[in-house]
Amino acid sequence: MGPFCWANFEKEDGLGYTQILLPLETRNTDTMSHEQKCYVTTPIYYVTAKPHLGSLYSTLLADVIARWNKIKGKRVFFLTGTDEHGQKIAEAALKAGMKPKEFVDQFIADYEDTWHAYNIHYNRFIRTTDQDHIKAVQTWLQDLLNKGDIYKSFYTGWYCTPCETFVTEKEAEHKNQAPLCPSCGRETISVSEETYFFKLSAYQDKLLNFYKKNPDFIVPKERAHEVINFVKSGLKDLSISRTTVKWGIPFPNDETHVAYVWADALNNYITAIGYGQKNKEKEFKQWWPADVQVLGKDIIRFHAIYWPAFLMASDLPLPKQLLVHGWINVDNRKMSKSFGNVVDPMDLLHLYGADSVRYYLLKQMAITQDGNFSTQDLEEKISTDLANDLGNLLNRMVSLAYKHKITTIEPPAAWHQDALDLIDDCYSMLDDVHEYMDEFLFHMALARVWQFISKINSYFHAQEPWKLAKSDTDRFKEVLSATAHGLHVIGLILWPAMPDKMAELLTSLGETLSVEPGTNLLERTELDRWGRTFMLKKIDTLFKKVEPQENAEKPAEEQKSEYIGIEDFEKVEMVVGTIEQCEEIPKSDRLLKLQVNFGNKIGMRQILSGIKQWYSASDLIGKQAIFVINLKPRKMMGIESQGMLMATGGDKPVIATVAYQVPNGVRLK
Ligand code: MSP
Repeated sequence: MGPFCWANFEKEDGLGYTQILLPLETRNTDTMSHEQKCYVTTPIYYVTAKPHLGSLYSTLLADVIARWNKIKGKRVFFLTGTDEHGQKIAEAALKAGMKPKEFVDQFIADYEDTWHAYNIHYNRFIRTTDQDHIKAVQTWLQDLLNKGDIYKSFYTGWYCTPCETFVTEKEAEHKNQAPLCPSCGRETISVSEETYFFKLSAYQDKLLNFYKKNPDFIVPKERAHEVINFVKSGLKDLSISRTTVKWGIPFPNDETHVAYVWADALNNYITAIGYGQKNKEKEFKQWWPADVQVLGKDIIRFHAIYWPAFLMASDLPLPKQLLVHGWINVDNRKMSKSFGNVVDPMDLLHLYGADSVRYYLLKQMAITQDGNFSTQDLEEKISTDLANDLGNLLNRMVSLAYKHKITTIEPPAAWHQDALDLIDDCYSMLDDVHEYMDEFLFHMALARVWQFISKINSYFHAQEPWKLAKSDTDRFKEVLSATAHGLHVIGLILWPAMPDKMAELLTSLGETLSVEPGTNLLERTELDRWGRTFMLKKIDTLFKKVEPQENAEKPAEEQKSEYIGIEDFEKVEMVVGTIEQCEEIPKSDRLLKLQVNFGNKIGMRQILSGIKQWYSASDLIGKQAIFVINLKPRKMMGIESQGMLMATGGDKPVIATVAYQVPNGVRLK
């Protein structure tokens, strides 16, 4: 595994590429305090197809968090896997003419191969069809049946198969006809069957109390509003079994019922580390509660409401943080088979390499928002940030040293002022990055590292070391040393984002990164203020520039046309949302700040609108209106606007709305 001590780390820690839960080493875990460990999870993926860019994104975030904690010396357990039961999978298997288990089996290797290819080092890949998981879910159900938190009754209502969710009465306003799913907008089906209910209603106050006491539970904080509002509006007991679906975990002592797929799936986070398994009690206590659970905004309700309530019912501690990320759109529209824009991570890997794609996703996407993927942006970032700014710097420094027959660079007896300035910036960069990474602001962390890289580049140019090599050898060596020290810190700090490439960079400096539990490499770097000796080694170009492809020539008539095509119109996402809050912006006589609810899929958005002169909060709150939601966010009076309210021009703008109420998040076509 290259120069890294991964092998060593794997042996020491029992971590690495593995599909099963390895016996956890007892030597250190006996004394392992909860501050020294990090348990991070991804959602488990529905296996109806190969993983796509969205699945890669959730998993990549968890991998970066895992690696970030590893360089801080923590023991890490990283869980991912697949969600294999339920109606959606059963129907997909039927369509393919296969048995559900055979159907899901065919995709597992795609998942594992993709994660391995992208350097995603998980500790366990759980499948909900794993025997230990099935038994532990049954234990969980039995425990809740015994406690009276699960009871049998009858359910009549609506169900969304793609989301595997029961649509609440409040959401299904037109009860006689199938309502659209408030989350995905697709048609629901009518369900009427005997069912076991979980007493969710009993947890309403406990949940609200918990959110209040733990304001950092949901990251970013803004996403907590929709959760709290939903809970406040009243929780109904949740149906957690199906009799009309056979593909699932049978209920204990009542095999006509199978566990509702979310009750089965959410429990993977505890069953994977030993819950409900007699010989694994110690391991379970060592890892639970999870430190960070990564999930997309579409599944926040399941994770922030049902999951904590399930855990409360089982008397288990709640996860410390839920990191809720936005969605990746491709070429500014939702990824979907029907648009033909589903991106296969393996295609990108072959064209650009794993670490370049990792970098791009982390840099491009602000975790709090939806982001856009485009190959053009990706190629630009590879060429400028990676090949030009970082790769070239390393290459120029090493080549120049080699040209003058220098392979060992020692630190100077004393640094000149310009190098001292660089050292100061290096440590202030480390502090900033530390803060950003701890807050999961990966795009900010990367931007800060690139500020520092540009500083080293300017220093290197300004010093003109190629001239110093002939006129002032000591100063020449100092410039090489300062550049190597800067690159060394960069190699460490960027390792969670680009593990392979940073290992190569460090090899070129004669360094390896020894990631071991108990050793905080960041603290170590803080202590050793640029006093290293580097043994240089030439390596292949770190990042290759991507040559821009010639733009295909458009037919002449298309170029002249003043019409826009339907595909242009479709780029503008006009969506219905309810204005939930409205505040005046001090010092602005034009702007109002709106908090708009776009339903579960899109969530809450802050939108500024220049209508203060004509409208006040009481005119707007509770009203539905039409918004453009995929305009690039922009700041006005220092406040970000994440969309645009549509209204007529003229003297008094009339706000565009719908003739009667529709679910929030519905798109105009
Ligand atoms: N099986 C459930 C999760 C159960 S967890 C106990 C599920 N699976 S999923 O395959 O549909 O989605 C898994 C994750 O992928 C979610 O976090 C979802 O947000 C994420 N993504 C799917 N498409 C996405 C994008 N286009 N962009 C970013 N992430 C998105 O839900």
